[in-house]
Amino acid sequence: MPVAQDRPVAPPAGARTVLVGVTGGIAVYKAVELVRSLVKEGFQPLVIETEAARRFVMPLTFAAVSQAPVLDDETTWQSSGGWFQHIEAARRAAVMVVAPATANTIAKLAHGIADNLLTATYLAYRGPVIVAPSMNWAMYEHPATTENLRVLAERGVTILAATSGELACGEEGQGRMVSPQTILLAVRRAFAAQASGPLAGRRVVVTAGGTRESVDAVRFLGNRSSGKMGRAVADEAYLHGADVVLVTAAPAEESPYATHAVESTAEMAAVVARECAAADVLVMAAAVADFTPAATVDGKIERNNKPSLSIELVATSDILAASARPGLLRVGFAAEAGPRVDRARAKRKAKGVEILVFNDILAEGVGIGSDENEITIITGRGETHVPRTSKTRCAAAIVTEIEATLVGA
Ligand code: CTP
Repeated sequence: MPVAQDRPVAPPAGARTVLVGVTGGIAVYKAVELVRSLVKEGFQPLVIETEAARRFVMPLTFAAVSQAPVLDDETTWQSSGGWFQHIEAARRAAVMVVAPATANTIAKLAHGIADNLLTATYLAYRGPVIVAPSMNWAMYEHPATTENLRVLAERGVTILAATSGELACGEEGQGRMVSPQTILLAVRRAFAAQASGPLAGRRVVVTAGGTRESVDAVRFLGNRSSGKMGRAVADEAYLHGADVVLVTAAPAEESPYATHAVESTAEMAAVVARECAAADVLVMAAAVADFTPAATVDGKIERNNKPSLSIELVATSDILAASARPGLLRVGFAAEAGPRVDRARAKRKAKGVEILVFNDILAEGVGIGSDENEITIITGRGETHVPRTSKTRCAAAIVTEIEATLVGA
């Protein structure tokens, strides 16, 4: 949809306007996808491009995906005599995102330099700001940049730390902009955090995935858990404004909150104990091994025509039971083989947890590895059955129960 650029018309005013500041980094192509995702989620993106960004992607692209005119220095600031464009844009925005954010723009934001439409708008804006840096690793690591990011974070700006990997310059290091999905989650949280529920600012530790117990250098004992349920709970708690820490035995995916990758039950136990010291809630969604090899063999166990092999297993420590302490709300899971809700009720008592989430792993199409689940949430107040639905919806129901327990409803 071609849009005239000479008379910029901002999207209709409303609480859904997300101001997307795009600066001149190679990750600008991911900003196109971000804008598209924002539209799909029902937000109204209002894009401001810096001059450097325009060299990478023409405003027409952003205008087409955002379904709105794009603001930039060339066509807006000057030709409309636009002294008020920055004020106008700042007023309309409910949330502001700068993605990709170059070292140069980050420096300007930190120092209040307002020499283009984007940076002037930032100064005039008073709502939540999310910054997604993107640059060469050496520029990212430079004390000037780290200091500027620190200053912004201290002022309440959400910094989505760059990830590590291969960079556009061909070098390896930390400097890749986070994915559009991660930025979208942060935007959704900024809207939700404005509502600030009982989880806002609370520290929530969530475990996910199936632990792996080492047999020898190449083998492990594991289980079929995908980590999807734990990840969904972590995302949901994050959206409710919580300070989330995910401890995952599944491959760690990118997220806007802290994530610790672990392998064995012992490793998970150590990280959970450390992270729970200052936590308000622990959600043990991980499928934790109940037994681990008594000893790990160095190197590889060889077949050597042995007719059989026995591995001695010893019980692991129960992470959930060991984490009990006043002030920590604990949520356990019970994946039972069959409709054994009675067993789950008993488990809630035995582990002394406030909330226990039961699911039947034998039920068709749900549970381990699937995107869907069917759960019964057992609390001191009663039981809530959530019929087969997405793990995201199950997570929302669990977080609702956590919030109700926190407020003593
Ligand atoms: N759990 C844990 N540490 C373990 C084993 C389990 O913290 N070593 C947690 C799980 O993450 C889950 C809850 O305890 O939240 C229940 O796990 P489950 O395997 O269903 O229960 P178990 O105590 O192992 O009992 P059983 O195997 O007899 O069903």
